[in-house]
Amino acid sequence: MPAPAKIASGAPALLSQRGLQTLEIVDFRNIEAASLTFSPGLNLIGGENASGKTSLLEAIYCLGRVRSFRTRQPEQPIRYGQSCYRLVGKLSRGAGQSLPVGIERSRSALTVHLDGEPVRRLSDLAGSFSVQVLSADTPNLLNGGPRYRRQLLDWALFHVEQGYRDVWQRYTRILRQRNAALRTHAHTSLVTSWDGELLETAAQIDDLRQSYLQRFEVLLAQEVAQLLPGASIELNYLPGWPGHAGLAATVAGALEKDRAHGYTRYGVHRSDFRLLIDGNDVAGHCSRGQQKSVLVAFLLAQLRLQQERQSPPGAFLLDDLGSELDDDHQRRVLQALRELDAQVFVSAIEGDRVAVSDWQSVARFHVEHGNIREVL
Ligand SMILES: Nc1ncnc2c1ncn2[C@@H]1O[C@H](COP(=O)(O)OP(=O)(O)O)[C@@H](O)[C@H]1O
Ligand SMILES: [Mg+2]
Repeated sequence: MPAPAKIASGAPALLSQRGLQTLEIVDFRNIEAASLTFSPGLNLIGGENASGKTSLLEAIYCLGRVRSFRTRQPEQPIRYGQSCYRLVGKLSRGAGQSLPVGIERSRSALTVHLDGEPVRRLSDLAGSFSVQVLSADTPNLLNGGPRYRRQLLDWALFHVEQGYRDVWQRYTRILRQRNAALRTHAHTSLVTSWDGELLETAAQIDDLRQSYLQRFEVLLAQEVAQLLPGASIELNYLPGWPGHAGLAATVAGALEKDRAHGYTRYGVHRSDFRLLIDGNDVAGHCSRGQQKSVLVAFLLAQLRLQQERQSPPGAFLLDDLGSELDDDHQRRVLQALRELDAQVFVSAIEGDRVAVSDWQSVARFHVEHGNIREVL
């Protein structure tokens, strides 16, 4: 067992209320076994290429999201030649309290435990350990598809908006039932029997998203003004049905085609958003450098909003920081994360380029051929 994270200068030990205190890893990618104790502040992960740095971040991400940021194949991280991987973490809850969470994934099965109890709906985990990643291995909000942006928005709302998860779960359940009725060619009256609740929950979700985005857009504009002086940004939300018509009329009008397709084609499950700089789509028109600035501005605006709503910041994984962001962007992101008391995991080949002196609590890890040790 490695020594606990060092706390410099007698600072309070409890920086992050919702951070990851410890993590045990078994057979995840090239990591055969590891037992780690993290800092509630900054965790620096160094090591050569292909040593297992991204794999460690991926394991942390899997614990919070029950999926990888590198692949859509859930069994891919199982170590070659093994039948399953296991991740067991302890989340800090403040006042010396902690919450155990565990995941075991084999080729055919997934078991998740939270506080010793099996978890049935994965969205029940949302809010217990918020984790976000910035990595070249993952799609981002500019090059990812609508599903990616939707998840990003929903995930943000899970964390700042009381009640969002409940209504989202209700909507998702009703949608599944309506789609099952469509798929099995059930009688029209059965299909439409779900519409009342579908529309009611959709309206609530849409309202919460719109009010979140209204505030978010202001904060985003402030960050963009800093990073891309003179540029003006716009965020266009697409609710998931043609804007000119209400959802009720759209769903009613789409019934016959829905029956032919076997699923519900309009609703908040089809929403998306676009980012425009000076009226042009960022993904299509901006340089790579400008796009990175927009991504960083977006992340910072999310953080500011979390801070405004006093929502626990959770953990941030910055993979291969040096190659992803230039020094100025790195500084801004790390400073914002520090102000927010977030728990941060940074992987870098030269871990020591990050300015650590600002942080109250720092832990360093070195990875070599899948072996991870804390550097004291
Ligand atoms: N399922 C797996 N089982 C064992 N090793 C794997 C698996 N998937 C990838 N690897 C190997 O793990 C090593 C570490 O990869 P990675 O974490 O990306 O390294 P780093 O981020 O330090 O460059 C690579 O050599 C890769 O080939
Ligand atoms: Mg890597």
